[in-house]
Parts: sequence; C-alpha cells; structure tokens
Amino acid sequence: MKVYITRKLPEIAEKHLKANKLDVSSFKYDRAISKKELIKNAKDADALITLLSDKIDKEIIDNLPKCKVIANYAVGYNNIDTVYAKSKNIVVTNTPDILTDSTADLAMAILLTCSRRIIEGETYVRAGKFDGWKPNLLLGYEFRNKTFGIIGAGRIGQATAVRAKAFGMKIIYYNRSQKENFEKEQNAKKVSLNQLLKTSDFISVHLPLTPQTFHLLNKENLKLLKKNAIIINTARGEVVDENELIKLLKTNKIYAAGFDVYENEPAINKELLKLKNVLVLPHIGSATIEARNAMAKLVADNVISVLKHKKGVTPV
Ligand code: NAP
Ligand code: GLV
Ligand code: GLV
Repeated sequence: MKVYITRKLPEIAEKHLKANKLDVSSFKYDRAISKKELIKNAKDADALITLLSDKIDKEIIDNLPKCKVIANYAVGYNNIDTVYAKSKNIVVTNTPDILTDSTADLAMAILLTCSRRIIEGETYVRAGKFDGWKPNLLLGYEFRNKTFGIIGAGRIGQATAVRAKAFGMKIIYYNRSQKENFEKEQNAKKVSLNQLLKTSDFISVHLPLTPQTFHLLNKENLKLLKKNAIIINTARGEVVDENELIKLLKTNKIYAAGFDVYENEPAINKELLKLKNVLVLPHIGSATIEARNAMAKLVADNVISVLKHKKGVTPV
C-alpha cells in the first residue's frame, strides 16, 4: 500500500513506514506543496501524511479515491475538512501529548521574553550601546504574585499553567468544561472570559481553532485587558482578532504581545513588525528534536494502525 507525505519529515517516519512494508514517497522539494501538486502526487495513495499548512478541503478529498487515512503531523487539525473526510470513510488522526511540553516551554519563553524585554536588550548590546549597569535600564515585570490567565485549559494550557505556578503566579482559566483535577493540583480557578481578560496580568491562548473560537478575542473584549497586560498566542492566529490587538499595542493600551501564530499565516501583518512591544516567532511551538521525532513516529503509527486495523492510534 502507498503512503504519500506532503513534505520531508524526520527520517524515523519513513523508516518506520518502510519497516512495515509500505511503499512511501514524499514531496521532493523543500517548500510547501501546492494543491495541484498534491492532487497529482497523492491520487493513488492509501494514506496521506499532511502538515498543518496543507489545507485539505473537499476538492482534495474527492481526488483521493483510495485514501483511508489522513494523518496530520500536528495536534491542531483545523486545516482538514474532518466532516467531509468522515463522510468518505477516511480516518483523520493528529499528534497529541508528545508536543505538549515543548509548546508549553515556548509559551513561557515568549512570556519571559516579553516581560523582561529580552529582544530589546539583545539588540542594544549588539548595537554596541551597553556602557555599564544602570538603575533604570530596560525595566520589565516580575512573575511572582501575578495572575496568569489560561484561555483553553487543555493539555498545553494546563502544562503552561504548571510552569507559571512554579514561577509563583496565581492561575485562573477559561474553558468550556470544568477541569477539577487541574483546579486541585494548581489551585486554579475557573472564571468567565471577560473576568479573565479584566484581571489577568499575563494571558496565554491555548484554544483549538473551530467555528466557535474564531475571533473569540475581539474588539469588545480585548478592551478589558489591563494596561500592564501581556498576551501571548501559541494556538492559532484566528482565535484573536489580530487587527484589534494591533490597535491596542500601537496606542500602548497593553504592555506587550507575543505571537507564534498569525491570522494569515505565513503572511505577517506589516504593522506588527513596526512595533517594539511585540515578539514575533515563526510557528515553532513544537519545534524541538524530541517532539518532532515523537511526532514523526506517531504519525507513522497512525497510518500503520489504520491500514492494518482500520483504527487510528490518536484519531481526532
Ligand atoms: P486540547 O488538549 O484539545 O485543549 C483544548 C482546550 O480548549 C480544551 O480544554 C477544550 O475544552 C478547550 N476548548 C475547545 N473549544 C472551546 C470553546 N469553544 N470554548 C472554550 N473552551 C474550548 O488541545 P492541546 O493539545 O492543548 O492544543 C491546543 C491547540 O494548540 C491546538 O489545537 C493547536 O491549534 C495549538 N498548537 C500550536 C502549536 C504551535 O506550534 N504554536 C503547537 C501545538 C498546538 P474541553 O476539554 O472541554 O474540550
Ligand atoms: C502546531 O501548531 C500543532 O497544532 O501541532
Ligand atoms: C546585579 O547584578 C546585582 O548584583 O544585584
């Protein structure tokens, strides 16, 4: 049976698939595959391995007549029309858990970078401006005793909260379901979204992108943020109305924002790049050697499991 991979992955993926006697091929260029190329190259595939940047819509699915599984190399799967795939008896799988710690680590790194003005400091030293210790040089905010608001207390949201708790922060969260163990273990308190935005010093977004979460943070509720607030997003850009957030940053209505994801990825709003109180990263939440190798193994396990047993290891 044939497996098509839309871009080269850590080699463990192909090795594992081939060891299971599958005929594997991947897109041969080091760039994103186009829709036309994908349809042409994957037309006789029994399994398709996709990236979060591949938009798998009805047209593509209609052109995969033999496909039994679409295995996404990501935990988020908003890039795939899962309802239509299901109607065609295609199993969709993702890569949960194994990238949770890496993504939570990055969220804390972004928050520290914003609160301690790390990029400004780095730029200053490289520009040859460091001429000695100063009482007022690059003052930021400390973590201890601050309120940390988690929007979306799932795997990554909770893992980020554990880290914030270790830094001495008080944890509040907004989520559709109550997380009782999380509340007990981290002394976390469930609040409404407005309450969270009004009272948090640091806010970290960890919701999946769905029709319900699109622009959940918008013109009306972003106004509730405190003047010293730092908001970071390592989930999906579309959860926050980026233009409205930029307006607040431009007029210093909040302290800073950190972005790993964007509304129109990979395009970046030019206004963002002009702002000093913003940190911009290229969607690297899960970009550790450990997480990417584990994702490569899991994506292959999902393909093998569906082709052999008609069931994914981690179906969505
Ligand atoms: P998860 O465990 O499924 O957590 C998502 C949380 O959001 C759950 O607690 C869920 O509540 C809650 N939720 C979903 N829809 C909601 C709604 N409409 N209102 C309120 N709460 C809602 O997912 P995860 O593994 O933590 O990953 C979260 C997201 O992070 C992924 O979907 C992905 O987009 C993003 N991500 C980004 C990177 C990166 O590179 N920057 C890396 C990994 C993941 P319930 O428990 O009640 O369902
Ligand atoms: C990364 O953004 C993922 O969803 O795994
Ligand atoms: C700073 O370097 C200090 O010693 O306080």
